[in-house]
Amino acid sequence: MDLLDLPHLDVGPRDAMPVVLLHGFPLDHAMWAPQKEALQRAGFRVIAPDLRGQGKAPVGHGPATMQAQAADALRMLDRAGVRRFALAGFSMGGYVAFEVLRQAPGRVAGLALVDTRAEPDSPEARQGRYQTAARVRKEGPGPVVEGMLPRLLTSAADPALRAQVERTMRATPPEGMAQALEGMGERPDSRSTLAAIRVPTLIVVGEQDAITPTEAAKAMADAIPGAKLVVVPGAAHLTTLERPDAVSDAMVAWARSIKP
Ligand code: MLT
Repeated sequence: MDLLDLPHLDVGPRDAMPVVLLHGFPLDHAMWAPQKEALQRAGFRVIAPDLRGQGKAPVGHGPATMQAQAADALRMLDRAGVRRFALAGFSMGGYVAFEVLRQAPGRVAGLALVDTRAEPDSPEARQGRYQTAARVRKEGPGPVVEGMLPRLLTSAADPALRAQVERTMRATPPEGMAQALEGMGERPDSRSTLAAIRVPTLIVVGEQDAITPTEAAKAMADAIPGAKLVVVPGAAHLTTLERPDAVSDAMVAWARSIKP
């Protein structure tokens, strides 16, 4: 497997517990900006990469599988001298987080699953991903932006926030976008990973999330022993930016509950 060097933000004291933040599709580490601030203020080290093919990260070859994305992230952490860490994944970042758990279970001290789900795509959804990937390679990011943007934020969201999110999506390299779509289409079923999780786990979901709905979050909370579920009112999928304080408060409390 070809591994890629991930550009990343790394802030806070070197001896504090690292909290690693994995972003969603097709976004970059900045979708965690409010939580990064809050976690850093609370004294944690925060590490937030751009995942392969997105943001400023290099684009790989072939589908950006969850396995490859997890291996990229683990290599970044090895190089940063980080052995054990708390791990938060948003949507696609959550799919990657399940894979990090499978590749390096002893290194994850706590888990936050934000607007994500454990089940794989249906055959129809997978087919749709491949079709969208082909369109993106021909037409650029338009098809993804048009299909996803209305579902990321509620209709009440600040237009400036919507414009900022759209800019990030449109700045994603089309090949990186296509590879991530193919990688998500190929992702494995993570439901059997849930019952073995024995670290403090937080699950966050926007009340109006139509991409990874509240039922998927509740199913994960039921399957993970001791998991805490927070349903965020007034938010769709992109809770971290639409209701930043609710997500930050939940994540700081979660991080404080973790024994590194
Ligand atoms: C994301 O927000 O990362 C993606 O929408 C997840 C997905 O398409 O399954």
